[in-house]
Amino acid sequence: MDRVVINGGAPLRGEVAVSGAKNAALPIFTATLLAGGEYELSNIPDLQDIRTIALLIEKLGAKVTRTGGSTYTINSENVSNHQAPYDLVRTMRASCLVLGPLTARLGRARVSLPGGCAIGERPIDQHLKGLSALGADIKIDHGYVDIKMEGRFKGASIVMDVITVTGTMNLMMAATLAEGSTVIKNAAKEPEVVALAVFLNDMGAKIDGAGSDTVCIEGVRHLHAANARIIPDRIEAGTFMVASAITGGDVTITGIDPLLVRSLSDKLSQSGCVISELKTGARVKSTGSIRPVDVTTAEYPGFPTDMQAQIMALMTLADGASVITESIFENRFMHVGELRRMGADISVSGATATVRGVSSLSGAPLMATDLRASASLILAGLAAKGETTVSRIYHLDRGYEHIEAKLKRIGASISREKAGKAR
Ligand code: EPU
Repeated sequence: MDRVVINGGAPLRGEVAVSGAKNAALPIFTATLLAGGEYELSNIPDLQDIRTIALLIEKLGAKVTRTGGSTYTINSENVSNHQAPYDLVRTMRASCLVLGPLTARLGRARVSLPGGCAIGERPIDQHLKGLSALGADIKIDHGYVDIKMEGRFKGASIVMDVITVTGTMNLMMAATLAEGSTVIKNAAKEPEVVALAVFLNDMGAKIDGAGSDTVCIEGVRHLHAANARIIPDRIEAGTFMVASAITGGDVTITGIDPLLVRSLSDKLSQSGCVISELKTGARVKSTGSIRPVDVTTAEYPGFPTDMQAQIMALMTLADGASVITESIFENRFMHVGELRRMGADISVSGATATVRGVSSLSGAPLMATDLRASASLILAGLAAKGETTVSRIYHLDRGYEHIEAKLKRIGASISREKAGKAR
């Protein structure tokens, strides 16, 4: 099994560019199922999850070609298969984003029901409730969700019981081709939802209000192919911002609207960093000390759950105690046990972790448990004394493009060891 080897202690300095956002690219790939034609998608990050979604839509009949480094063309003229197999869906929950577009296009979707995952139960009841309100007939059998729709979806007013990012996306996509208008209330406001709405509107949809908690979609009869440039990854940007803070560094993250990482910037400046917001970037300069800050995760524009593990890594070295509350997923503290193995002092009670800062962490062999947990272990390793190894890094490869190369360029001592290599 590949692993990442880090020799901690070097302050990171310099500039690092942000790649395209995985969580914006995935729904845009599935949106191409809505209408035939040739699409060009650029700024696509080179990630395992992208390879999975490409394979999935190919199974459904699309033709996906990587034409340049980060550019893909997709021809979805011949999409005719409505079945998304277990083998693919089980490796990536976001596969359920095909439900809305497939049913809208083909009147049928049979998609393996994603199970629980490392960070929580993650049901998709809200996706299904919304699709049912749009008129679909939904059955669950043999581990699959089977959706049928006679004719076009029928516009409806849908109130989401919980705010869900991919749920909002699925319903928005389904409603684009519905008969009549749909209103989604209590919708997710994440920038990736807005990016999807922009793309759908470029395809001929009529969506208004994306980015607010009420999204209105006036159904149209036909959509057409369009092109998209994927927005920058705010979570990758945030991870590099914490990398600067935790190593006592001075790093400028380029290619991101600083507004998208404002909730993190605020916490980092409360913690003692000097943050300079640039036109398309942010500079994070450490002042040497880390003050404790309390963090509660929330939907956008609140503090992202996808940055909770990384800010916790930073707080392990703070000058006092901080309280970190995870309010989105019920089991997203898997990194705690690994951070403790480096000497961190963390106690967990339910959804709250109390982190008492220690003066230093010591390098250790660690195991990644999920994508963002892996990032937090890398960050802790960058600050720790001595060598840290992080194994099971296939989690990391799902969501961070060329992370070792990027960190190396700003001064980290980090490399990847191939499985089985003797040391
Ligand atoms: N939920 C329900 N029912 C539903 C849908 C969600 O109860 O039908 C609950 C979930 O269990 C969770 C909460 O609602 O407690 C929020 O989940 P949401 O549906 O918003 O999460 P998601 O759409 O599955 C996306 C990102 C995640 C990110 C979350 C929250 C993608 C592909 N994934 O997941 O990203 O953590 O939103 O912001 O966009 C990651 O990139 O590492 C990652 C996990």
